[in-house]
Amino acid sequence: MLETNQGSVPSVENPGVGASADAGPLIVGIGGTVRSGSSTERAVRAVLAASASAGARTLLLGAEELQLPLYAPGESLRTPAARQLVEAVALADGLVIGTPAYHGGVSGLVKNALDYLEDLREDARPYLHGRAVGCVVTARGTQAASTLAGLRSVVHALRGWPTPLGVAINTESVTLASDDSDGDPHVTAQLATVGRQVVEFARMSTPVG
Ligand SMILES: Cc1cc2nc3c(=O)[nH]c(=O)nc-3n(C[C@H](O)[C@H](O)[C@H](O)COP(=O)(O)O)c2cc1C
Repeated sequence: MLETNQGSVPSVENPGVGASADAGPLIVGIGGTVRSGSSTERAVRAVLAASASAGARTLLLGAEELQLPLYAPGESLRTPAARQLVEAVALADGLVIGTPAYHGGVSGLVKNALDYLEDLREDARPYLHGRAVGCVVTARGTQAASTLAGLRSVVHALRGWPTPLGVAINTESVTLASDDSDGDPHVTAQLATVGRQVVEFARMSTPVG
C-alpha cells in the first residue's frame, strides 16, 4: 500500500490504475535534496498541493525516500525504498519531478532514482508512458534553465510528457513559500499552474489500444 494525501492506494498487483470518477488521479512527486529545508522539496510540495486542490491524490517521495543504492544494471535485488518508488510510478497518473542544479545538471540523487524506472521497461505503460510530468529545478543562478532543459530531456527519454510549463527557480533571488512565510508570487503561481496542468493531462489522457 502507498499512503497518499487521501489515504492509501492499492499495490500494483491490483487493477484499477488510472484516473477514475470516484478517486482523483494519483500524482506522484519525486525530488528534493538531503539538505534540511530543501527548497527543491518545498517546490515539489507546492506543485503537489496545487494538484491536490485540483482533486488529485498525491504522494511525495522526497530525498529521504530517494536514498537508494546506486542503480546497477543486472542487479535485481531491490530495497523497500526502491520497490516503493517503482510501484508508485507504475501506479501514477501523473508526476512531478524536482531537482536542484548540481554542477549544471540533474542531481545524482534524483537521476539515480529515475534510473530505477528501468524496472518499468516491460510494464503495460513502460517507464513514464502516457503520463504528464511537471518539471521543477532550483539553482543558485541561471543554470536552473539549462538544468530544466536537461530534466525535460530525461523525461522525454522515459517517454513522459513534460507539462507545457516547467519552473526554473533561482533560489539566490527568489524566496519559496514555507509554513511561516509567503513566497515569490510569480514562482508560487507558476508552481500552482504546473500542479494543475499535470492533473488536467491525467484527466484527458486515454490510452489507445
Ligand atoms: C554540489 C552542488 C552543486 C551545485 N551546482 C550548481 C550549479 O552548477 N549551478 C547553480 O546554479 N547552482 C548550483 N548549486 C546550487 C543549488 O542548485 C541550489 O542551492 C539549490 O537550490 C539547492 O537545492 P536545495 O535547497 O533543495 O538543497 C549547487 C549546489 C551544490 C550543493
